[in-house]
Amino acid sequence: MRSTARACANIALIKYWGRADPELNLPLNASLSMNLADLVTETTVEFLDVPGEDVFVLDGRERSGPEVARVSRHLDRLRARAEVEAAARVESRNGFPAGAGLASSASGFAALTVAAASALGLPLAEPELSRLARLGSGSACRSVPGGFVEWPTGSDATSHGRSLHPAGHWELWDVIALVEEEAKGVSSLEGHRLALSSPFLGTRLNGLPGRLAGLRRALAERDFATLARATEEDALELHLVAMTSRPSIVYWQPGTVQVLQHVKRLSRQGLPVCFTMDAGANVHCLTPAQHRRTVEVELTALPLVERVLSSPPGGPAEVVE
Ligand code: DP6
Repeated sequence: MRSTARACANIALIKYWGRADPELNLPLNASLSMNLADLVTETTVEFLDVPGEDVFVLDGRERSGPEVARVSRHLDRLRARAEVEAAARVESRNGFPAGAGLASSASGFAALTVAAASALGLPLAEPELSRLARLGSGSACRSVPGGFVEWPTGSDATSHGRSLHPAGHWELWDVIALVEEEAKGVSSLEGHRLALSSPFLGTRLNGLPGRLAGLRRALAERDFATLARATEEDALELHLVAMTSRPSIVYWQPGTVQVLQHVKRLSRQGLPVCFTMDAGANVHCLTPAQHRRTVEVELTALPLVERVLSSPPGGPAEVVE
């Protein structure tokens, strides 16, 4: 009744923004991401033999209120499958700053799902684990399979992550420029809801099937220039939708713009590097392995960058104990 699992965070090249079904976390659009090997959440779930309140300890601090409620609701889905009522003790550790737009809910709910299923002895295949993770946090379904992962729209049964290529397919690095380590102001939960009020959402959704097809092809052929164009366009569109939601959401900070300008400068000079941002101010810069150090040095030198984290592609969520 006790198990530990690890899962990677992921960075979306095509973003999930807006829900078709808020209860089931079904997305309005398909998304595509890369797991991040060095941004990992490790979670231990232990079911005690009595019913009662769940305990959730995150990064050494016991949580209360909505944080533990969200974990309990997720455990209920797994408890229902296993037909048990036992309370759980969940201990989770992020290897990176939580809540700074680094998708800790993705790695968190992927690790929680895989650890809880294993602790309960549920023999669930990857698609089902991914589907369950999606119910906890949408983007978490992309952290269950390994490498480069697509999450299609669809029904509750069909909308889950599936790996397009394993992590070893292409050694792209994500060099993350942290310009703000505080938790962000507007949650992605709220962002997904407000997206529906943006007059630009329809324009974005219309263009996405073409962009997704192009990105799939660029990944398969390891064509960085095409990947870079699609990734940057998509990130800018997410932020355009956020900024034009009613009320508007502005995730950017001065450091965000400084990094964007610098990445554009480097790219004009011929360095293969591109940017993307989630629902936060930090900037993820993708580059092939051989240029990683240059990108790290360039970003670290920017006055508004607090520090830089880097990661190559990561594997699937797995049970470690
Ligand atoms: C901007 O998966 O965090 O990172 O279901 O509320 O946890 P919840 O939403 P979440 O939304 C992710 C939004 C994003 C884009 C992406 O990762 O696709």
